[in-house]
Amino acid sequence: MKTISLILWGVVAGFVLIPGTATAQEPPGRSLYEKHCRICHGPVGGPPAPAMQKQMGVPDLYAPGFLAARSDDSVVAVMEKGAGKFMKPLASTLKKDEMQAILRFLRESAPASPASRP
Ligand code: HEC
Repeated sequence: MKTISLILWGVVAGFVLIPGTATAQEPPGRSLYEKHCRICHGPVGGPPAPAMQKQMGVPDLYAPGFLAARSDDSVVAVMEKGAGKFMKPLASTLKKDEMQAILRFLRESAPASPASRP
């Protein structure tokens, strides 16, 4: 019995420790964006599809200065609570650190000022 539980604990510890070391790295902001935001907000760096903009009023996150004008907290709050009529709250889908990873990724990939995008 003792050996079995030791083996079981070893297996459990293995599962816990291996992903544990993986989470020490940056969560993958880009793939999270692609999975949870792209469908409405469009591809990385680009605007949403015209129909999305027109029918749901989806904003272009990559419009020059759009994200620069928003605080980290406000962008995370939008992910948590949703926005307007069409953007659903994602609090039960995304963990806080995943939202933060998406935010970081958006900031890294967004033009900082109107001058940086033609
Ligand atoms: C179902 C479509 C949909 C998805 C999926 C979606 N959004 Fe949105 N998002 C919208 C719409 C529509 C608005 C405009 C809401 C309004 O103000 O009416 C919006 C607005 C925003 C805003 C601007 C809010 C403001 O401050 O004015 C941000 C930032 C944003 N979304 C980020 C994200 C991120 C990041 C994700 C992925 C985690 C995401 N959205 C997923 C539809 C979506």
